[in-house]
Parts: sequence; structure tokens; C-alpha cells
Amino acid sequence: MTRMRINARLSCVPGRLALLLGAVLALGLFSVAAKAADEADIARGGRLFDNWIAELKERPPLAPNPRYKAPKDLNQINEAGWRCVSCHGWDYQGLKRQATGPLAKAGLEDPARLASVLRDPRHQYENRLSERDIADLFAFLQNGMIDMSEHIDPEGKRPLGDKSREAVLFATICANCHGMDGQRIASMAPLGTLVRGNPQEALHKILNGHPAEKMPALRFLPISRIWDLLAYAHALPDRDQAASIARGGRLYDNWQKETGARPKTYRHPAYPRIAAFAAMPKMNWRCKECHGWDYKGSAGIYGSGTHRTGIKGVRAMAGGRPADILAILTDANHRFHGTNWFRSPLSYRDLIDLANFISRGQIDMDLYIDRKTGHALGNPQRRRMEFNVLCATCHGRNGKALPTGKDIGDVARSNPWEALHKIRNGHPDEAMPALHALDSQMLVDILAYAQTLPE
Ligand code: HEC
Ligand code: HEC
Ligand code: HEC
Ligand code: HEC
Repeated sequence: MTRMRINARLSCVPGRLALLLGAVLALGLFSVAAKAADEADIARGGRLFDNWIAELKERPPLAPNPRYKAPKDLNQINEAGWRCVSCHGWDYQGLKRQATGPLAKAGLEDPARLASVLRDPRHQYENRLSERDIADLFAFLQNGMIDMSEHIDPEGKRPLGDKSREAVLFATICANCHGMDGQRIASMAPLGTLVRGNPQEALHKILNGHPAEKMPALRFLPISRIWDLLAYAHALPDRDQAASIARGGRLYDNWQKETGARPKTYRHPAYPRIAAFAAMPKMNWRCKECHGWDYKGSAGIYGSGTHRTGIKGVRAMAGGRPADILAILTDANHRFHGTNWFRSPLSYRDLIDLANFISRGQIDMDLYIDRKTGHALGNPQRRRMEFNVLCATCHGRNGKALPTGKDIGDVARSNPWEALHKIRNGHPDEAMPALHALDSQMLVDILAYAQTLPE
């Protein structure tokens, strides 16, 4: 029993500390509770401070914390108000809104005193944290908090470290998970974007790790190296907007295909029970199925025919704030989220790409395609060369070369809206290039040429 518990513990602390613990075990000192706090305990305390619910793999509380003054936020979740950091701040200096001041390092003599603080009327954490959790939180409050203001300019939020010194540390430790550009993990925004938005939070996580994740805690390194690492991470790039828009277009087309998600097996709740594709979840979860290839929903080509649903289009959100669109996609109507990102069919990155597409990737198709005849409003002769260099490598000069694909000429004639959407954004989960950055008239000319390909 003791052994199992200790093994479980070993698997979650960094290697060098595991070694240390091993030495303690060899000496026959089995009592974990009695040993003095080490860096691993402090880091765990830091992760509990960050989000004890996630760290302990607890279910999020059913009720919001009544003592927490929540900021106005459409996606406010109950969990937020129960996190220590929500009331005490990433820099441990307190938050005006929550009526807290700096957390004093001194003042708490022992874990028992902290336990009583956590039971006081301001906290009411009775029975939520174990003795060991409180001991680790205590260790963090005593020895884990650092003065962030010395190395992050509080006004401009700029880390004052030297970004050129710790590239190797980043490439060898962080990039394993985050990628060299900080963008490999799809459940979070790019690392650089986050660090610029909240360097204090990033610093806390670099020192203590991320709750419930295997991200290492680097608090054993000299603090000067951490400052330089933070400065390096601060300079990492944002997500490329043009790529994000095109990928959002492919997700709009067919997110199940683009992401490789397990296809849906039940009807999207917003899809009318009596419409034609109600029995085909693979179809009725696609954005295009409800909102149309021309983005105009019931006011466009899907206003009649088999694809009719009566649902409005997304044109009104062109130019909208991505954050507002993200809120729409995660609302109770769309349900492209769970209570937690990882339960969502779409990752944070997917949702941001979709929002960028809706905001900045749509066009008014009626300017380019005659709605009645389906003729592309372009000159078919002008762009034969472009078709042959951009498209024929895969589709062939006659548009029939892909063994899997449909005949390009047929698609261009029967559904020019779909063809134009794909020419601009690419085809889900295929290498087909996205051309939305090129001149729109050129793309329409290519479409017009494709309409002249042999049947
Ligand atoms: C809903 C807001 C809220 C949350 C969540 C919260 N606190 Fe507090 N805490 C307060 C307030 C208010 C005070 C009193 C003002 C102050 O001391 O800054 C306080 C004071 C404290 C103090 C100083 C107590 C003293 O008497 O010196 C400690 C230590 C503390 N909190 C630890 C924690 C820890 C650890 C957590 C997470 C397990 C936590 N708090 C979560 C609001 C909160
Ligand atoms: C073993 C994998 C792993 C390694 C190595 C790793 N991380 Fe992480 N990191 C994660 C995961 C997983 C998350 C949480 C992702 C999420 O929120 O969905 C995360 C989150 C973060 C966050 C928080 C982002 C936020 O604001 O929510 C920061 C900052 C961060 N990592 C920085 C680093 C730095 C700097 C390094 C190198 C010292 C590093 N990480 C190494 C896996 C790792
Ligand atoms: C099963 C049908 C359905 C699917 C699939 C669907 N939506 Fe919607 N969407 C709706 C309905 C219905 C509304 C209108 C809700 C309302 O009026 O409150 C809506 C509204 C919207 C709006 C707001 C439009 C406005 O002007 O208010 C946006 C933006 C949007 N959807 C984007 C998307 C995206 C992106 C996807 C794919 C990830 C998607 N939708 C998938 C049914 C759907
Ligand atoms: C790198 C290869 C590649 C290039 C270059 C390429 N495509 Fe595609 N395209 C594909 C693949 C693969 C598909 C998906 C076929 C399928 O459905 O299996 C596709 C699908 C399409 C479709 C939709 C057909 C369908 O199956 O619904 C159209 C229309 C299309 N391409 C037009 C073009 C045009 C026009 C160009 C040039 C501007 C172009 N493509 C360039 C690979 C390419």
C-alpha cells in the first residue's frame, strides 16, 4: 500500500527529485508527510494555487463561488471562482476587484494555520483539500512565491530578461511539447501570444508546471535563466492569420474531415428534424450544411432545394470580432464545446481558425457568380495558363486526373459556390493549395475556365 502510493508519487515528479526521493526511501524513511518540503512539493503547491481542481482531477464544482466577483464573461465557468489565483493574482499581489492584497510570505506559521485560513468565512474550503495538499500549498506560500515585478515591466508587461541566451533550453525542453514556434499544442493559443498577454501567468507555470499536465517545473534552475527563457518565449510568433483563415474555411467545409475527428453519430440539435439530411450526422454537423457554400443560408442558394433548412447565413458576422464569433460557436445552439476544451469536438485552435474565417475569410459570392445561371463572372480565356500551373499538377489539364476526386469541370458547373470556396481555402485534409491571398478576379477567371472543361 505504502509502496503503491509512493510509486504514484514518483511518476509525477521530475527525475532528479525522484532520485532524491529514492534516496530517502533507501534510508527507510517512508513517511512522506513528515519530510521537509522540497522543490517538488513547492511546485505542486504552485499548481494547486493555479488550479487545484484540475491538479486533483476533481469535477468542477456545480455552483459558482458566491464570494468570487466574476468579471463579465460569456463563457464563465464555475471552476474559475474556486481557484486561488482568481482572487490572489498571478503575481501574488492581490486583485482590487476581489479586495485582496499581497499574500505575505511570513505570517503563516505552519500548515495548521493555513488550514484554518482556508476554513475561514472568506474561503470555506472545508474538506476540499487534503492534509498533503495544504502542506504543499503552505510550502508554496512560504518558499515558492517570487517578486515578479523585478523582472517584468508591470506597465508594458515586457519581461526584462535577455531573449538570446536561452534558445537551447527552449529547443530542448519546451519545444518537445510546444514545438519550436510554440504552436504545436492545439488546445491552447500560441505560446508567444499567451506569454505576451500574461507574462506573470507564464512565469508561474514555467516555475511550477501546468496543473494535471506533464509539463516540467523548472524552479530548480537559477532564476536568472528563467527570466531569459521567459524573454525568449515572449518573442515567439503569433498564429499566421492567412493560414488560420484558410484552415477555418476548410473547417467550415467539413471540420470532421479536416480534424480527423470521430464522425458524429447523431443529428445536430439545431438541424431541423424534417430537413433532407436529418438522418446523416456527417452532413448535418457541417457548417456549410446549415449556412451554405455562399454563407447566406436561407437567403442564398440553400434557400430552396434539398439543402433547404431555413437557417440564416453568417454574412452579418463578416468583420465581427473573433471573440464574439467564438462565443457563438460555443453557445448552447452550436455546442462546439464541452465543459472543458478537451471534451470539445473542436480544439481551441480550430475554433479560432473558424472565427478568423467567418470574420475575414468570407466573400459575397453574388459578386462573382450569377446566382440564377451559376456562371462565374470571369473571363475563361484569361487564366488558362494559371489553371495549368496551379491546378493541373493534381487535377490534370482536363480536370479528370484525380482517381478519387470528382471531375473538376462538373463540380465547377454544378456547384460553382463550392468550387470557389475550395479554390480560396483548399480541400479538407488534402494538400490542395488555398488561394484566398491571390486576387479574387483571378480566382473567378480560373473558375470560369474550369466551367469550360470537357464533360
Ligand atoms: C473568492 C476569493 C478567494 C479565493 C478563491 C481564495 N482566497 Fe484567499 N483570501 C481571500 C480574501 C478576500 C482574503 C483576505 C484579504 C487578503 O488577505 O488579501 C484572503 C486571504 C488569504 C490568505 C491570508 C490570510 C491571512 O489571514 O493572513 C491566504 C494565505 C490565502 N487567502 C490563501 C488562499 C489559498 C491557498 C487559496 C486557494 C486554495 C485561496 N486563498 C483562495 C479571497 C480568496
Ligand atoms: C511534456 C510536455 C510539455 C513540456 C516539456 C512543456 N510544456 Fe508547457 N504546457 C504543456 C501543456 C500540455 C500545457 C497546457 C495546454 C492547455 O492549456 O491546453 C502547457 C501550458 C503551458 C503554458 C500555459 C499557457 C496558458 O497560459 O495557459 C506555458 C506558459 C507553457 N506551457 C510554457 C512552457 C515552457 C516555457 C516550457 C519549457 C520550459 C514548457 N512549457 C514545457 C506541456 C508541456
Ligand atoms: C445544424 C445547423 C448548424 C450548424 C451545423 C452550424 N450552425 Fe451556425 N447557426 C445555426 C443557427 C440555427 C443559427 C442562428 C441562431 C440564432 O439565430 O440565434 C446559427 C448562427 C450562426 C452564426 C451567427 C450568425 C448571425 O448573424 O447571428 C455564426 C457566425 C455561425 N452560426 C457560424 C457557424 C459555424 C462556423 C459553424 C461550423 C463550425 C456552424 N455555424 C454550424 C445553425 C447551425
Ligand atoms: C496538390 C494537389 C491539388 C492542387 C494543386 C489542386 N487541387 Fe483541387 N483537389 C485536390 C484534391 C486531393 C481534392 C479532393 C478530391 C476528393 O474529393 O477526393 C481536390 C478537390 C477539388 C475540388 C472539389 C471536387 C470535389 O471532390 O468536391 C475542386 C473544385 C478543385 N479541387 C479545384 C481545384 C482548382 C481550380 C485548382 C487550381 C486553382 C486545384 N483544385 C488545385 C488536389 C489539388
